[in-house]
Amino acid sequence: MNCIPSTGSSPMKGGDGPYSYTHNSSFQRQGVETAKALINEDIAEKLDINELISSSSSSSKVFSIADLGCSVGPNTIIVVENIMDSVKLKYQSFGPNNQGALEFQVFFNDLPSNDFNVLFKSLPSSDRQYFAAGVPGRFQVRLFPKASLHFVHCSYALHWLSKIPKELVDKTSPAWNKGRICFTNASNYVREAYSTQFGKDMESFLNARAQELVCGGLMALTILCLPEVISGKCLALGLNDLLEACLNEMVEEGVLSEDMVDSFNLPQYYASKQEVVSLIERNLCFSIERMEPLVRPPRNGMAPSVESTISAFRAVAEELLVSHFGNDIIDELFGRFKKKVVESSILSKSADNPGMLELYVLLKRKVD
Ligand SMILES: C[S@@+](CC[C@H](N)C(=O)[O-])C[C@H]1O[C@@H](n2cnc3c(N)ncnc32)[C@H](O)[C@@H]1O
Repeated sequence: MNCIPSTGSSPMKGGDGPYSYTHNSSFQRQGVETAKALINEDIAEKLDINELISSSSSSSKVFSIADLGCSVGPNTIIVVENIMDSVKLKYQSFGPNNQGALEFQVFFNDLPSNDFNVLFKSLPSSDRQYFAAGVPGRFQVRLFPKASLHFVHCSYALHWLSKIPKELVDKTSPAWNKGRICFTNASNYVREAYSTQFGKDMESFLNARAQELVCGGLMALTILCLPEVISGKCLALGLNDLLEACLNEMVEEGVLSEDMVDSFNLPQYYASKQEVVSLIERNLCFSIERMEPLVRPPRNGMAPSVESTISAFRAVAEELLVSHFGNDIIDELFGRFKKKVVESSILSKSADNPGMLELYVLLKRKVD
């Protein structure tokens, strides 16, 4: 097999099977449910609905919502229906003239290889109160016409990089990430290369959205970030380390070539809150209306189960691993991974450790 450098973000596991994102996205779903209350408050307080709708070039009253990096499964549907319900409430609060006239257009965006068929089949078939469309493409580029969106949502997607910085796979570079698959525990050069790529991706993302959102339009983001104080290991970081250990073990046993593993890096970067703030401020087109961590209900010492953890990790990483290593080693890799998860007691240790910082950010498109 050719040893190609791993590329950028890849879709979640589609279909309806045991490792599908549809059946293994409860971590993200709890986050989406937690963010609901913040989004509802923000729409009630910050969305100038009459201004937005009357400035629309169209004579009909259409409110356009886009969920970027929507994936498949129930999360995206929960998100858009919540936004829609909140917007309706706000609209109706302005009196009898604002009853019933508003129509909703919802755009579901993800990478072209996302399982849009499964997504479309899972949309409510009767009594759906919005017009739905799929928009395939990378969200670092323009996806919509100018000033055509009123509300953009994006959860658990912005930490995915559009590509792996080439230095990470360049044997002559100080940022060569030999034997490692991510930036944590790696040299500062590696971290810098990841951070630079994240900065470029965020810049492109914000530039595109600045053109697509109407002035006064809102954008709600939930971004996985590094916690300010990393006391003990976050589960997500610990799991990446265990995956790395499995791959290196397979090299030692001759199952995988060293080159194959050295050329694989996870296209994920967890920024600090400060990095996110600086990138938004540098863009100049958005005001930060709210920025705070999502606070999940306490775990009370309850550790996640081994099976649910492996399946959730697999739903996110399998497509990426298959695209680099091929399909044949996947079951063996996850067999080893499961053994390491059990032996490491990472799950019981994580029960009382703070997890990743899930940063909720509400941005408003400034008037030019
Ligand atoms: C963990 S899933 C999150 C799905 C959903 N938003 C949720 O909260 O459950 C991340 C999604 O982002 C998508 N994604 C990653 N990079 C992307 C990009 N550059 N453009 C569009 N979608 C992207 C992936 O394909 C994946 O479906």
